[in-house]
Amino acid sequence: KYTICIIGGGSRYTPDMLTMLCNQKERFPLAKIVFYDNEAERQELVGKYAEILFNEYYPGVEVVYTTDPEEAYTGIDFALMQIRAGRLKMRASDEKIAIKHGCLGQETCGAGGFAYGMRSVPAVIDIIKDIRKYAPEAWILNYSNPAAIVAQATEKVFPEDHRIINICDMPIAIMDMYANVLGKKRKDFEPRYFGLNHFGWFTNIYDVKTGHDYLPELRNILKTPKEFKTEKLFEEPSWKATFDFMSTMISDYDEYLPNTYMQYYLYPQKMFKKQDINHTRADEVMEGNEKEVYETLEAVVKLGKIKGTAYEPEPDAGCHAEYIVDLATALANNSNEIFLIITKNNGTCSNLDPDMMVEVPCRVGTYGVEAISVGEVPTFYKGLIENQHAYEKLTAEAALEGDYMKALKALVLNRAVVNTDVAKALLDDYIEANKGYWTEL
Ligand code: G6P
Repeated sequence: KYTICIIGGGSRYTPDMLTMLCNQKERFPLAKIVFYDNEAERQELVGKYAEILFNEYYPGVEVVYTTDPEEAYTGIDFALMQIRAGRLKMRASDEKIAIKHGCLGQETCGAGGFAYGMRSVPAVIDIIKDIRKYAPEAWILNYSNPAAIVAQATEKVFPEDHRIINICDMPIAIMDMYANVLGKKRKDFEPRYFGLNHFGWFTNIYDVKTGHDYLPELRNILKTPKEFKTEKLFEEPSWKATFDFMSTMISDYDEYLPNTYMQYYLYPQKMFKKQDINHTRADEVMEGNEKEVYETLEAVVKLGKIKGTAYEPEPDAGCHAEYIVDLATALANNSNEIFLIITKNNGTCSNLDPDMMVEVPCRVGTYGVEAISVGEVPTFYKGLIENQHAYEKLTAEAALEGDYMKALKALVLNRAVVNTDVAKALLDDYIEANKGYWTEL
């Protein structure tokens, strides 16, 4: 049985993860779950909810919540890391400053992603240093955003530590959608993919039993969005819009299947026009999902029970977080399953920088992560990836070193910024707004 720590314990994503852990107890048995957060009050609510949930759905698991790193990390097997430095309030600030300067205000892309990266890197690095002090051997499954920039920073600071694994749920969400469209399950497929996080392309979708490649037929179906048979996961308007936009990209390029986040880089002006400075995605999440989650937690804690109330988790709740347990199980049990992971290129994409943190298919076992060869990346994609990587690398370095010039150059390289005057103005506003979060430039 395993001891795990959820870092960012007070997050709105934690309750779904807990449901998922309850659903997966046969495969991934827990002895103890620890929550760690730097905000005691918010985490206490999640912690109390967890005590009730585990007592009813997963008895015998010890539940601890703490703001003390030593108590949190000592003796853990897995650290699941999902922090958001500055929370949604700062995400809204990132988005609004970008829009004010005529740029994309998005959580991980464009100028917004840059500002968030500058905040996230120092926070993530400090936490990993603490984990390594008290749990030198624990697997660290990191899905803190913006994952591409964060991964570049973890590789720079901890180059020898192969037990830090950077992963993102977006390829999983996209594959769920493919499965949905084809009337299959995600695990019926093995993907082939190359790129950076939130910046990549599926090249093949193989059937695990027959080796059949579904990509050509998927491409044809996805060109006409009306034929999507999407289920609940994609009913939310912003997600629906994202997946609808995928049709445009697929029709325009008619080749590989792009990660949906490519819309921000390939059509920045179209995406800019969809934004509202008075009501960004962060506002939408704060007023909607976040509020809902904490209201539920409060109600459950007040009632002191879940079963038999209106707050029973739906059977498929948390299924979206299942990949985290899949990954942990693969590491623990040497399953050799394939996951899309952000890892050091090391020749996987033969014509890209060996030090680049690429997102590619990897086999996962007790030894860790082993990337599957991609070969040469065609010129168009190589150009896009190299430009994006230069932006991400400079952002990670600017965040670690507090280097103004690297930050400015990073912004100029960002396809959704480009103009030097705009980059300077953005940087000045972001520096002001991020005092206490960024390494001083
Ligand atoms: C997907 C992405 C994450 C991102 C999230 C934003 O899951 O892979 O990187 O953080 O969407 O969702 P939200 O509901 O906060 O806009």
